[in-house]
Amino acid sequence: MKEYIIETKDLDYVYEDGTQALKKLSVSFEKGKKIAIVGANGAGKTTLFLALNGIQKPTGGKVLFDNNEVAFSKKEIINLRKNIGIVFQDSNSQLFSANVFQEVSFGPMNLGLSKEKVRQRVETALEKANIMDLRNKPTHFLSGGQKKRVAIADILAMEPSVIFLDEPTAFVDPVTSNSIMEFFDELSEEGVTVVLSTHDMDKVYPWADYVYVMNNGTVIDEGAPEKIFMNKEILMQAGLEKPFILEVYEEIVKHRPPTEQRRIPRTKEELFEIIQRILK
Ligand SMILES: Nc1ncnc2c1ncn2[C@@H]1O[C@H](COP(=O)(O)OP(=O)(O)OP(=O)(O)O)[C@@H](O)[C@H]1O
Ligand SMILES: [Mg+2]
Repeated sequence: MKEYIIETKDLDYVYEDGTQALKKLSVSFEKGKKIAIVGANGAGKTTLFLALNGIQKPTGGKVLFDNNEVAFSKKEIINLRKNIGIVFQDSNSQLFSANVFQEVSFGPMNLGLSKEKVRQRVETALEKANIMDLRNKPTHFLSGGQKKRVAIADILAMEPSVIFLDEPTAFVDPVTSNSIMEFFDELSEEGVTVVLSTHDMDKVYPWADYVYVMNNGTVIDEGAPEKIFMNKEILMQAGLEKPFILEVYEEIVKHRPPTEQRRIPRTKEELFEIIQRILK
């Protein structure tokens, strides 16, 4: 049986100016999976993350955390934040301490852990985010991609069971962004549920276990990445691009329809294998 860490049922969120950013939105995030939320600018992705972390209390509908309905009392919000870490799109709005070590210690220190425990957590987080060498560096001297890694270490040090990442690879160089994605794989292997929002369909297509497509504050489709990204109508409706791997694959199929049952390629390597077989 599937176990869900977070579920929403008909979630609504209306901003003070009357903008309805979430409309009857229902999602079920399975424990330990890699989940992608995709949708055009203004679709409601950031609002959803903020609502699930208790930063913006939903104006309607239900949120279940570990099968319990969240009433968004002060105590419950503190519990949510202990368990759900958010890495914001803009790292500058997340980092505020003088240097990297202090920055990453801040969260665990507030949990009331002993000095030694805090130090252990910080060192592990710095190691995982591969920024041990930056530990004494002032945060305001860091490059954009380094700041992103520090923001991720911040969250890791809290040892959350779910991590939300809002556009984690925006403004990050391709090598770092690939290593960040691989790093999310490792987290997921350790049992952490990783939910990310992105506009980069090429990154998300080989990575995600499950995809939600958002448009106008609600989910318009969900499922395995192959199913979602082969659906031209949904992509058009949501203002999204088809991943390049699928574009190439469909071009191949147009000229060389498969003679046997063939798996749709998810990675470059799987695509190259198909091309090599045809060229033989
Ligand atoms: N503080 C706010 N007050 C009023 N409206 C807001 C506020 N923040 C966001 N919105 C509106 O809510 C809707 C959803 O915005 P949100 O930031 O959640 O979208 P998004 O999917 O994260 O977009 P992007 O891809 O650009 O990050 C948009 O129409 C936006 O204009
Ligand atoms: Mg956003």
